[in-house]
Amino acid sequence: MIMQTTEINRYLVVGNPIAHSRSPQIHNAFAKQLGDKIIYDKAEVETGEFSQFAEQFKSSGGKGMNVTVPFKIDAYNYVDTVDEHARAASAVNTIKFTSDNQSKGFNTDGIGLLRDLSERHGVDLQGKHVLLIGAGGAAQGALLPLLQAGIRRLTLMNRTVEKAQLLLQQPVFRNAGVELAAQALNMLDEPADLVINATSFGLGNEVMPLQPSLVNDAFCYDMSYGPAARFCRWAAGAGATSSVDGLGMLVEQAAQSYCIWHGQLPRTQPVYELIRRAQPVGAQQSSA
Ligand code: ATR
Repeated sequence: MIMQTTEINRYLVVGNPIAHSRSPQIHNAFAKQLGDKIIYDKAEVETGEFSQFAEQFKSSGGKGMNVTVPFKIDAYNYVDTVDEHARAASAVNTIKFTSDNQSKGFNTDGIGLLRDLSERHGVDLQGKHVLLIGAGGAAQGALLPLLQAGIRRLTLMNRTVEKAQLLLQQPVFRNAGVELAAQALNMLDEPADLVINATSFGLGNEVMPLQPSLVNDAFCYDMSYGPAARFCRWAAGAGATSSVDGLGMLVEQAAQSYCIWHGQLPRTQPVYELIRRAQPVGAQQSSA
């Protein structure tokens, strides 16, 4: 009798903290849907130890990693190559370890956002004015896909306006053929069709720093979900036409990672519904 041992491909999500991560549940649900056999775990890594950890996982035969807070920049510096979205974001959330011992870095966050907006929520971005609030890592990850989506104008609004100005000066954003403006909080010279919260403000307890006039008659999207989706809940009562949280983005960015690793894009709606049932608004954290 010939015994065949096929090793099961192993994946990890790495962050700190990581206990709350829904990524194993999402990826295991995708694998079940597509009949793939995988092992997907989570690992908490100490600050400063990301590269060493990734190297060990690669050496042990690991096939891929998702990377979340606070290691997306470490992952960007660690990998051998990056795709255009990771380069524009200066951050990597997906690593593929290849058979020739290479580490390839990707960023699927912005693609996940765009897919959630257009396919789940039916938002048509063509010719629209988008107000993106925040100029940290989350905002930078969303910028390129938004600028490639056919929008007419993007206003980047941030508490520290200089950070927004600096970000928009990067050639990859400046040369995207979209009208750009950097603004301080609550300074808006033209109403926006779509308002996206990419700040980490929702994690704290401070009073809402935004004025209702920003979201009046706009579709509002909060990249946070669960208790941190304070912008989502506030906008719903502040005149937004619709207001949604970022749970769909979480599932969509995972689907894109899955596709990078396995070559097939899973159906996301059943998994989104599963995660939504388990984590209704108000019961979850705000990172992958
Ligand atoms: P992330 O990776 O989640 O984007 P980050 O890079 O630390 O985190 O960026 C946090 C963003 O949230 C920044 O745009 C920050 O504004 P500043 O650049 O002025 O610091 C924004 N932010 C955080 N707390 C805020 C608050 N209370 N009010 C307004 N903006 C806030």
